Amino acid sequence: MAYVIDSAELMRARDLLIKGDVVSIPTETVYGLAAAIDSEIALKKVFSLKERPFFDPLIVHVASFEQAREVTREFPPVADFLARWFWPGPLTLVLPKAASVSSLITSGLDTVAIRFPDHRLAIDLINLLGTPLAAPSANRFGRTSPSTAAHVRAEFPDANLLIVDGGPCQVGLESTVIAFAQTIEGHDQIRILRPGGVTAEQLENALERWSHAVTVVRAESNESPGHLKHHYMPDVPLVIIKALPTEGDLRAIAQDLKLVKVPLRPMELKFDEDASHAARTLYSGLRGASEAGADLIFVIEKPERTGGLWSAVWDRLTRAASWTPQDRSRL
Ligand code: TXA
Ligand code: MG
Repeated sequence: MAYVIDSAELMRARDLLIKGDVVSIPTETVYGLAAAIDSEIALKKVFSLKERPFFDPLIVHVASFEQAREVTREFPPVADFLARWFWPGPLTLVLPKAASVSSLITSGLDTVAIRFPDHRLAIDLINLLGTPLAAPSANRFGRTSPSTAAHVRAEFPDANLLIVDGGPCQVGLESTVIAFAQTIEGHDQIRILRPGGVTAEQLENALERWSHAVTVVRAESNESPGHLKHHYMPDVPLVIIKALPTEGDLRAIAQDLKLVKVPLRPMELKFDEDASHAARTLYSGLRGASEAGADLIFVIEKPERTGGLWSAVWDRLTRAASWTPQDRSRL
């Protein structure tokens, strides 16, 4: 579906941002809750509206390579190579921050996360404002991210919030967050802090064209301040299981999760074979199941669905699930 660019709405969004307000913006990954990076008032509003703890830093969204350089102190050649390869797109780079970047954005860290989103409306809005936008996903802290404007409205029903509707997000889950390190041999190393829209394989393929050897590794989860064990959670419990649950399984689940009743309306969340399609429909599927009255959502583990975008899909499902893998092994 083509989305008509309503320039009056973008101007309204720009004016609100200038006044120190927050606006919800579409990106190719998920919707964001945006503040101008130089407005402390708006940045604080982002945290209070999301009920987000201050230890969880925000991503700065830019609409040019120059803006990316302005918010950083150093831009290593390999970061520049990857930015040129993947931007605009779902890749977030964690780099040393410029002194001008508010510590509210970075949670007091010396680094800043930056990305150039691949969405016409987001880019136009940043250009109209002339300033990058700090934006986390537009959901209450810990909850499922929004991949449509209606999801954002459902997250903040009472807020007087302008939501720029850019249609359903094409990627459907968040960007890949990477940091840069060196191996003991002195080679560059890319550390994936959060798997997302750009896969490890895509990073490796791109880096084959780079002049130096670079390794891509998955970082320990404690390296990512906001990518917590319980995250992306829907309104009703989600469990990951090995096979269709029997009545006995449902009773065991109910007991384990301390549910008042054994689920009467369990609903399976099914995915297409195609990982991009699974990513695109993940969050609307989770929201759809709870809106349809499910009292338990289950996903059947498919070990053959690994690698590529499946890494990000399983990462989100595992964090959204009320059951840890150890719990699951009992079924
Ligand atoms: O696709 C996306 O990245 C979306 C859209 C709106 O751009 N944004 C998003 O933001 O997912 P948020 O706030 O939900 O997630 C940002 C992630 C968190 O896990 C946070 O900890 C990490 O980025 N992050 C931000 N700054 C960081 C830093 N300086 N060092 C390490 N991780 C950082
Ligand atoms: Mg988020």
